[in-house]
Amino acid sequence: MNLKTTFDGLILKNPLMPASGPLSGDLEKLRFMQTEADVGALVTKTISTKKPKIPKPCIYAGKDYIMNSELWSEHPYQTWLDDFLPALKKDLDRPLIISVGYSKEDMSLLIPKLDPFADAFEISTHYVGTDLSVISDTVKTIRRLTKKPFYMKISPHMADAAAYAKTIKEAGANGVAAINSLGPTMNINLENRAIEYGADDGFVWTSGPAIKNLALATIYKIKQAEPSLTVIGVGGVSKAEDVIAFLLAGASGVQMLSAALLKGKGLYKKIIDDLPKALEKYGFDSIEAVKNTPLKKNVLYEDRLPELIEDKCIECMLCLKTCPYFAITFEDKITFDPEKCFSCGLCVSICPTDAIKMKYVGD
Ligand SMILES: Cc1cc2nc3c(=O)[nH]c(=O)nc-3n(C[C@H](O)[C@H](O)[C@H](O)COP(=O)(O)O)c2cc1C
Repeated sequence: MNLKTTFDGLILKNPLMPASGPLSGDLEKLRFMQTEADVGALVTKTISTKKPKIPKPCIYAGKDYIMNSELWSEHPYQTWLDDFLPALKKDLDRPLIISVGYSKEDMSLLIPKLDPFADAFEISTHYVGTDLSVISDTVKTIRRLTKKPFYMKISPHMADAAAYAKTIKEAGANGVAAINSLGPTMNINLENRAIEYGADDGFVWTSGPAIKNLALATIYKIKQAEPSLTVIGVGGVSKAEDVIAFLLAGASGVQMLSAALLKGKGLYKKIIDDLPKALEKYGFDSIEAVKNTPLKKNVLYEDRLPELIEDKCIECMLCLKTCPYFAITFEDKITFDPEKCFSCGLCVSICPTDAIKMKYVGD
C-alpha cells in the first residue's frame, strides 16, 4: 500500500507527523520520532527568542483530552542552532519542519538562522492575538526571509478560519497547519477547591480527541475558502481512521500529539502500521487516492422510522434510555413509535452493536 504524500516539494513516506510539542522538544525526542515512530516528517517544538516561564505542573490528562500550560521550547534557540539541529541533520532521512514563534521581530531574528536546517517552517502565532493585519505582516516578513515552504498554524481563538486563510495566502504563505490547542479552558479540582493547573490566570489549552471535530471543520473551511493552500491537519487524531478523515476534509498531511500522551508514544508506529488495513477497508489504494477524493454532500436520513436489525440487538436498552423524543419502548423487542420518532439519528449512532439503521436519502 502506497502511504506516500507529497506537497510543496516535500516527500513524506507516510502522512503522519508529530505535532509541535514535548515529543519533539530536543534531539533525543526527534531521533525517537525518526527511528522508532517512523513518522513521515519531523516537526520541532516551537522555537522562539525568549526563555519561557512554564508553570509546573503543565500537562494534565483527562479521559479524552489533554490540558497544558506549556509555552514554547524551554531550550534557547542557540542550543537548537549549535547542538540539536546540526546533530539531527547528520542522519536525517525525511523532511524537517521547524516550528517558529511568534512575532514579526522573532521571525526576522530566527528564520535566517534556522533556514539552512529547515525543509519547511511551521509558524505559531498562538500568543500574538487575533488581528489579521499583524498575521499578514508576519507572513510577508517570513516570505522575504525564506524560499522554503511555510505553514501558518491557526489557533482556534482565530474566529474566522476562511478570512485567516485568505489573509495568509495573499501575504505569501504556502498553507495552514490547523489547529493549535483550544482555549482558554480550565478544570477545577474539587478536593483542593482550586483551579487545576495553569498559568497565572488559571487558563490552559485543551487538545486531544475531544477537539477532533473542531479540527476537521477548520481544515474543511480553509480548504473550501482557499483550495490552493496546503493544509496540514492536526487536533485530536488518535487512530488510522482519523488520518483518513483529515485527508478527506482537505489535509495533505496529519499531525498528532495528545493521543500519544494519553495512550503512549508507540501510538505513532501503530497508526502508521494500521493505515494500510484502514485504507483497504474504506476502498482506497493509496494516501494520494484519499486526497483526491471529493467529499460528497451531507448524509441525510429519509424521514421515516429507524429499522431494528434484531439479531444484532443485545437489548442493552441504551437507545431507549437516551432517546430524547421518548419514542423507543421495549415490548419483546425494541420498538419505535411513529408518532413520536423525530428521525434524529441518535439511536443509530449510539447503538454499540450497530443494530439500528436509517435509510439514507438517495440510497
Ligand atoms: C503539552 C503540549 C505542548 C504543546 N506545545 C506546542 C508548541 O510548542 N507549539 C505549537 O505550535 N503547538 C504546541 N502544542 C499544540 C499541538 O501542536 C497541537 O496543535 C494540539 O495539541 C492539537 O493536536 P493534538 O490533539 O494531536 O494534540 C502543544 C500541545 C500540547 C498538548
